[in-house]
Amino acid sequence: MTSTNDIRRGFLDYFGSTGHRIVPSAPLVPQNDPTLMFVNAGMVPFKNVFTGLETRPYVTATSSQKCVRAGGKHNDLDNVGYTARHHTFFEMLGNFSFGDYFKEQAIVHAWTLLTKEWGLDPDRLTATVYHTDDEAFDLWKKIAGLPDHRIIRIPTKDNFWAMGDSGPCGPCSEIFFDHGDHIAGGPPGSPDEDGDRFVEIWNLVFMQYEQDANEIVGELPKKSIDTGMGLERVAAVMQGVPDNYDTDTFRALIAASTALTHTAPDGEWKASHRVIADHLRSAGFLVADGVLPANEGRGYVLRRIMRRAMRHAHLIGAKEPLMHRLVPALVAEMGAAFPELVRAQPLIEATLQQEETRFRQTLDRGLKLLDEATAGLAEGGTLAGETAFKLYDTYGFPYDLTEDALRAQGLAVDRAGFDAAMAEQKRAARAAWKGSGAKASDDLWFDIAEQSGSTEFTGYANDTGEAEVVALIRDGARVDHATAGESVAIVVNQTPFYAESGGQVGDAGTVSSDAGLHAVVTDTTKQLGRIWVHHADIQSGEIRVGDAVKLAIDLTRRAAIRANHSATHLLHEALRQRLGTHVAQKGSLVAPDRLRFDFSQPVAVTPADIAEVETRVNEQVRGNGPVVTRLMTPDEAIAEGAMALFGEKYGDEVRVVSMGQDDEGTYSLELCGGTHVGALGEIGLFKVIGEGAVSSGVRRVEALTGEAARAWFSHRDEVLREAAATLRTTPDEVPARVAALLDDRKRLERELAEAKKAIATGGGAGAPAGPEDVAGTAFIGQVLDGFDAKGLRGAVDEAKQRLGSGVAAIVAVNDGRASIAVGVTADLVATRNAVELLQVAVAAVGGKGGGGRPDMAQGGGPDGDKAAAALDAIRAALAS
Ligand code: ALA
Repeated sequence: MTSTNDIRRGFLDYFGSTGHRIVPSAPLVPQNDPTLMFVNAGMVPFKNVFTGLETRPYVTATSSQKCVRAGGKHNDLDNVGYTARHHTFFEMLGNFSFGDYFKEQAIVHAWTLLTKEWGLDPDRLTATVYHTDDEAFDLWKKIAGLPDHRIIRIPTKDNFWAMGDSGPCGPCSEIFFDHGDHIAGGPPGSPDEDGDRFVEIWNLVFMQYEQDANEIVGELPKKSIDTGMGLERVAAVMQGVPDNYDTDTFRALIAASTALTHTAPDGEWKASHRVIADHLRSAGFLVADGVLPANEGRGYVLRRIMRRAMRHAHLIGAKEPLMHRLVPALVAEMGAAFPELVRAQPLIEATLQQEETRFRQTLDRGLKLLDEATAGLAEGGTLAGETAFKLYDTYGFPYDLTEDALRAQGLAVDRAGFDAAMAEQKRAARAAWKGSGAKASDDLWFDIAEQSGSTEFTGYANDTGEAEVVALIRDGARVDHATAGESVAIVVNQTPFYAESGGQVGDAGTVSSDAGLHAVVTDTTKQLGRIWVHHADIQSGEIRVGDAVKLAIDLTRRAAIRANHSATHLLHEALRQRLGTHVAQKGSLVAPDRLRFDFSQPVAVTPADIAEVETRVNEQVRGNGPVVTRLMTPDEAIAEGAMALFGEKYGDEVRVVSMGQDDEGTYSLELCGGTHVGALGEIGLFKVIGEGAVSSGVRRVEALTGEAARAWFSHRDEVLREAAATLRTTPDEVPARVAALLDDRKRLERELAEAKKAIATGGGAGAPAGPEDVAGTAFIGQVLDGFDAKGLRGAVDEAKQRLGSGVAAIVAVNDGRASIAVGVTADLVATRNAVELLQVAVAAVGGKGGGGRPDMAQGGGPDGDKAAAALDAIRAALAS
């Protein structure tokens, strides 16, 4: 038997050996299509190559592309388990020509591979062509020698393949395999074509047109080829079984679930084992490609798939979570071809286990409610929509799970009633919304949310992405377009931009389009907790609601933000270890250029504490441990010891970020919705640059990481070198040199003060020779520049002593101001009053007042340059 892995290898080798580039499968989340939920055909990653927007260094290619058809337009979820050929996850083998070969060579390749390389019996193959495609008809005759009745003309859309409502398209030709007349079913185009006898195995699309809104709008630049062959179907053919679930890969997966549940593969639980095997594959591959269970968007499709499988596991009788224990079988079967499965195995297992543990908490009660609600229904009856909604809302039963559960009993669900109950809940939530208090603007966001749903954040796994513009807001009102020079808020269906929350600032970056739009996003914020708003300035071109745009975050900026955010977690833990577990986060700012962390701490933090915290954080950085994110309920997270913010409201699901390692195990475990480095080494370096109190009991640390920290050290080094150069010493000697200079300075100041005093008291050079005689009174008058006014009184007292009998006046001039002291010896106070003499002197320097006693008075004025005039005024007063 040829294994599925060998068939894949054989296909790629055949096309590789005929000049096709073997291209690895693209991730399941489309990188180049804003409206597509998951990659659902082999050509999706090449879409822009077909339309000519993108060129590659090869013109023919081959791949085995992972595809998911669940949710969105192509949804096979409901059929899985009950048919031989439906899957939510499958691989599409394909060969592609981008303007190289066309119809003839495509048919030659297909026929050669199927009948020559793989040896399929040509008599069991039938081809279809689009009814007007005579060329393809003739080629099948010529190349394969098929008789006319086995080249069937099909007039319907079945033979005109299009990627979606818009994009490349063209007529196609399908190849069918006849499993034999022991199986019911007719050839394509016949009334019983849906039976399992004739199975389409390969679709050759002759890509030549481009369509928009379902209308052909033009020809592709070059005629091209896109083919798709379901690997699972062709494996069934090659392995001689009419049922995909009987191929080797599925048998191995089903063997794992039967072994663990001690049940038979094809007995009572046949459909359940098939559901489990299929859903294990889609869940495993989706998680490996970065999708995690959520209540919105892609994550919700994943959750629906997982829970559907989990209900079947429960149905079979599994008492414990089952799905995660099947992952080793999946990795054993498919890990060699898809190394991402091996890499993500721990994450896939943990995600499945958590989801199943959690779902089991409500599953029994939900099923009981379902039993009660359906007890009275006859076959063909309908379950009330409200009950389905309660199951969804309270017990976590996705709508399709309820449908699936009722299917075996032949019951349906009232979808309209379910939708009405959902709409009512949204209305009630809107009515209860407290929000920003600005009713009008909240209404605007609610309208957008109701029309277009929540924004899907793709930025944990991606830095760029395509999106559809769902709303534009300018000056608080919705607009349908905006042009160059305008500032506009842009809302899209999915975005890699992080919106400001949890202290982490919003992303910046660009929004552009092939039509010439270039807009610079300066900030990203969130409304209602689920609408991402990109604040942008349009530099060129225009943007319209409905446009497909390309979003790219500023990567350098985001890398710095990531480093600062992860460093904040390390800092938090290091503070707790050093200062005690009373340390709790009180606020934080994670910006590209710095981080700030406020925490409860009743007493001061010492430099030694900070040094220790820095050392510990840097130890973790150098340890380069991984940063791992998992989803859990808040209770589970807290039970694991995750640090949560007290008083913060968490949803029913939280992201738990763990990082680093120390003797006790994981270093840091926190609830966090932010973005983080992949490994701690990316932080590079951590430096605290400030610490202080912000309010009573709350302290703040400011710190830098990476390049900002390096630049900080570099700047410090420069400053120190400059200081050393000025001091004519080495950086290491700077502290000692500065201390010595300060000592010198103190000594010099002391000496200077003494010198000035000596001058004032006549002991120094420039001192007045002695008293002068003014109208019979001995008088000492002196002006001292820069003399400290505090010393005036002492200086006048000394002058009085020297006089024995007389009047002394000293004016000190400092910063242009005059301070004056006048003294009269005791024997003269009866005739000479110091206060009066002072007053005339003060008036001369533009001052007022001043006072004291008859023997000693003090005052001053602003006109220091009139100091000599003040003395003259005293002389005049003495003479009068
Ligand atoms: N793109 C074609 C398909 O999906 C081959 O069928």
